[in-house]
Amino acid sequence: MKDVARRQLPLRPAGPDTVAALLDWYDRERRDLPWRGKRGKRIDPYRVWLSEIMLQQTTVKAVIPFYERFLQRWPTVEALSAAEPEDVLSLWAGLGYYSRARNLHKCAKAVVSEHGGRFPKTEDELGSLPGIGPYTAAAVAAIAFGAPATPVDGNIERVVSRLFAFRQPLPGAKREIKRLAASLTPQRRAGDFAQAMMDLGATVCTPKRPSCLMCPLQQDCHAHALGIEAQLPVKLAKAHRPVRYGTAFLALREDGHVLLRKRPEAGLLGGMLEVPSCEWGDDWLPLDQALAAQPVKTEWWSVPGVVSHTFTHFRLELMVLRAIVPVSTSLTFWATPDQCRWVARRDLGGAALPSVMRKVIAHALKEH
Ligand code: ADE
Ligand code: SF4
Repeated sequence: MKDVARRQLPLRPAGPDTVAALLDWYDRERRDLPWRGKRGKRIDPYRVWLSEIMLQQTTVKAVIPFYERFLQRWPTVEALSAAEPEDVLSLWAGLGYYSRARNLHKCAKAVVSEHGGRFPKTEDELGSLPGIGPYTAAAVAAIAFGAPATPVDGNIERVVSRLFAFRQPLPGAKREIKRLAASLTPQRRAGDFAQAMMDLGATVCTPKRPSCLMCPLQQDCHAHALGIEAQLPVKLAKAHRPVRYGTAFLALREDGHVLLRKRPEAGLLGGMLEVPSCEWGDDWLPLDQALAAQPVKTEWWSVPGVVSHTFTHFRLELMVLRAIVPVSTSLTFWATPDQCRWVARRDLGGAALPSVMRKVIAHALKEH
C-alpha cells in the first residue's frame, strides 16, 4: 500500500535529497577498487589519473590487472616520466587505444617538468596536459582534489538521462546531460558523488534491465515512474563500420624468432609492433600483388581462415601467410633493421604487441 501511495505523489526533480540518498548507498555498497582510497581519505592524484586514463573506453574488470602492473613498475609520476616509451607501450599492450599510452607518458613528463612532479588541482590546468580531456580533467579534479567538478562517462549519462526522463538522443544531448549532472554535483564529496553514479550505473542502473527495485534513487526517478527506464538513453544509430582487408606475413626463423615491424609513431597503433603486412585496402590484393610486401623472399604458405579485429572506425580482416626460414635469412630491401626485428617467441608476451597482432601470431602458429 505504502508504495502505491508514494507513486501517486507528484515526483520532485532529483536534487540534494537524491544526492544524499546516493552517497548513503555508496558508503554501504561501493565497489572496492584498487585506485580507491580508504573511505574519507584523499588518494594520490597519480593513481587517480592513471586509473581514469585506463578506464576510458575500457571496463573496470579489464583495467585492474593493467593498473596494478603499471603501479608496481612505476609507483610515482617521476618514475613513469623516466620510463622508456617502448616499455610504456609494452605494458599497455592489450588495453587498446594506444594513443592513450603515448599521451600518458607525455603527460607524466609534463607534470614533472612543468609542475614539479605534482598534478595541478584545477580542471583548467589539468585539461591543458597531454591526453587529459574534459572528462578526465573533471574526474581527477573531483576524485583526487575534491573540487566540485562533474565528470560524465557512459554510466553517468545513463543514470542522469533516466533520473530526469531526458529523451533527447545521444550524442547530441551530451551537453544538456552534463548540465543536469552538474546541477546535482555537491560542493562536498563531489568525487564520491561521481564514483557513486558510476557504481550505480555499473551495478544497478544497468543498460538493459536496471534493478529499479533495489535502487536508492527509485523515488526520485522520472524514467522509472513513467516505466520508460529501459528505453533511455536514446541513441542515434551508429554509422556502420567499413571493412578493410590485408595480408600479413608471419616469418618464423628456425631458431624460434618471429619477424616483427615497428609501426610509425603517428596514427593507428602508433609505435606498436606488428606482423608485417601489405597495406590494408578495400579488398584483398591478388596474391602476386600482396607478395610485393613480403619482408623476406621465401616460399609462403597460407594459413586457413582469417583473423578479424574491430577497431573504432573499421573492422580489419587479415589473411595470414606463414614461412619458416633459416637463421641466415636476409630481409627484403625495405625491411630496414630500424623497422624490422627478430623477436624470440618467449619474449612476445612482454612485447609492445597490440591484441590484433597477438591474434595473428596465435592464428599462424596454431600447430607450432
Ligand atoms: N570508470 C571511470 N572511472 C571510474 C572510477 N573512478 N570508478 C569506477 N568506474 C570508473
Ligand atoms: Fe536507474 Fe531504475 Fe534507479 Fe531510475 S530507478 S536510476 S532507472 S535503476
